[in-house]
Amino acid sequence: MPGRLQHRAALVTGAGSGIGLETSLLFAQEGANVLLVDVNLAAAEKAASIIAERFPGIKAAAFKADVAKEQDIKAAVDKTVELFGRLDVMFNNAGIMHPEDDNALNTEERIWDLTMQINVKGVWWGCKYAILAMRNNPIDEAKGLHAGGSIVNTASFVAVMGAATPQLAYTASKGAVLAMTRELAMVHAREGIRINAICPGPLKTPLLMDFLNTQEKRDRRLVHLPMGRFGEAVEVAKGALFLASDDSSYVTGTDFMVDGGLSSCYVTPLGEQVLAPPSSLV
Ligand SMILES: NC(=O)c1ccc[n+]([C@@H]2O[C@H](COP(=O)([O-])OP(=O)(O)OC[C@H]3O[C@@H](n4cnc5c(N)ncnc54)[C@H](O)[C@@H]3O)[C@@H](O)[C@H]2O)c1
Repeated sequence: MPGRLQHRAALVTGAGSGIGLETSLLFAQEGANVLLVDVNLAAAEKAASIIAERFPGIKAAAFKADVAKEQDIKAAVDKTVELFGRLDVMFNNAGIMHPEDDNALNTEERIWDLTMQINVKGVWWGCKYAILAMRNNPIDEAKGLHAGGSIVNTASFVAVMGAATPQLAYTASKGAVLAMTRELAMVHAREGIRINAICPGPLKTPLLMDFLNTQEKRDRRLVHLPMGRFGEAVEVAKGALFLASDDSSYVTGTDFMVDGGLSSCYVTPLGEQVLAPPSSLV
């Protein structure tokens, strides 16, 4: 069976870890050539070597870029087009949650600005240069390659729910990602460019586990999770694949929740979780 992203080119930011890493491997498994973008070049290179070993027919290259810098993102998109001839899928996924992020009284302006610079402006730059590249995508119907493309922006469940464990800048930044995604989706809907946000619930990735560094802090969250467990990065990768591929051809401007039911929950169930989470691709 042909892969769902066969002949396509994808750019993934934050490709060296967590959601970005799992998604890069899944996109490669589904046939896409992938530019693996991360500020941590060594991590992106490791991802590239895993893909080279497992999927020999796939082209994957590591690229160092800070998504907060417009010229870095432009260079990454240019590199994708230079290497693969096109850009079909842009996954604006890199983001930070700063350990000093706090409530309205204690969050320092520099933490607010840094968070906005990466989490919001980074997504804006990614969308801007992806749209420009997608407008030039060569059409090849025989290979299933059409005009436009798919942009997926990583937001978070905190964009739609309040938490009494505050991280004000992060939460505000993710709300901005949802609003920006909806508007861009409308502006570009008739160009064949679909733009969606994916909202992961709390996941077992370094980003959150470094923040929740005691069992007490983890338990404070676990009690609110309907399935009784944190999510896995690979479960978000599978959502990103759906949004990236033509399987979601009539989906644009959506807030796609991959949160184990958290945003629909009033009272959590009792009892044990019966299903094990899927295995990581890493
Ligand atoms: N982990 C969670 O529970 C969770 C929940 C909701 C949303 N998210 C969001 O998912 C996305 C990915 O998170 P993750 O959990 O996989 O994180 P992670 O920390 O495991 O990986 C993030 C990657 O992004 C890279 N990165 C950070 N800043 C960058 C920058 N300025 N430019 C380029 N690369 C940069 C890091 O080097 C790292 O490789 C983030 O946007 C995060 O806010 C995560």
